[in-house]
Amino acid sequence: MAEPIVKWVGGKRQLLSELRPRFPASFDEYHEPFVGGGAVFFDLEPARGSVNDLNRKLIALYRAVRDHPERVVEENRTHRYEEAYYYDARDEFNALFDGDDRSTDETVRAASLFVYLNRSGFNGLYRENSSGEFNVPFGRHTNPDLVRERQIRRASAVLSDVEVYNADFEYVLDEATAGDLVYFDPPYEPVSETADFTEYQADGFDADDQRRLRDVAVELDEAGVDVLLSNSPPVADLYARHDAFDVETVAAARTVSRDAANRDDVAEIIVSNVDAADRRQRSLDSFG
Ligand SMILES: C[S@@+](CC[C@H](N)C(=O)[O-])C[C@H]1O[C@@H](n2cnc3c(N)ncnc32)[C@H](O)[C@@H]1O
Repeated sequence: MAEPIVKWVGGKRQLLSELRPRFPASFDEYHEPFVGGGAVFFDLEPARGSVNDLNRKLIALYRAVRDHPERVVEENRTHRYEEAYYYDARDEFNALFDGDDRSTDETVRAASLFVYLNRSGFNGLYRENSSGEFNVPFGRHTNPDLVRERQIRRASAVLSDVEVYNADFEYVLDEATAGDLVYFDPPYEPVSETADFTEYQADGFDADDQRRLRDVAVELDEAGVDVLLSNSPPVADLYARHDAFDVETVAAARTVSRDAANRDDVAEIIVSNVDAADRRQRSLDSFG
């Protein structure tokens, strides 16, 4: 089974056991328009379909890993886990993305720096400042694996089977056809009891984007495409009026609280149009 190459904010590894049984037992192509670290995509290893993300550095990483896995692994062996080296690497990484054109050597170098910075940075986070520069400080880790040889080889094979896009999520309307499965994991709508959710903006993804996404989900449903979406409870209302969609609340494993009163704070929702009879319904252990 493949696994993510980089750690990503909103990574879905904790939700896998909730998502897997809700997938349809069979589907043609698989599409993931907000792939991020790709926890679900790499777990599923689909034979056909597409992945996409608006983050151009992340997609450059995936394309480099797909096309030049051995060169990325080789380059990864050259890095040193040292604070001064880290900040030089961070500057070099950002400079490589000043323009849009990169040679193959620069593409491989950028991918390798991405993995290195993600392994060595604070908390393994990926974060950019308002100018779009990666700005995570050096982090303290014990013997970080800077090479990721096995993960990169496996990810390369899985990425070779699908199209890899760097676009807005609406591209999926042109890609998905009846019988396909689309899993949406957009930036979550922040949860707050005090403010109206339409005032919020997370990761540049605002309430209008959440509505636009709902409209895309409805259009896909009408075209005979199976749709799954994860998000936070405030977006449930957007889907409540649409009979085709079930909204289920699940506890996010990483933050499950023993205090029942706090559970809502960590709940996530899974929206799906997959008929109960078509679901996999398999347990984590029996999932093949
Ligand atoms: C919650 S994260 C996905 C996490 C992913 N499921 C994982 O396991 O790592 C949301 C992703 O949506 C991307 N994104 C934000 N706005 C987007 C848009 N309009 N179209 C496509 N992707 C977008 C972000 O770059 C981010 O990687």
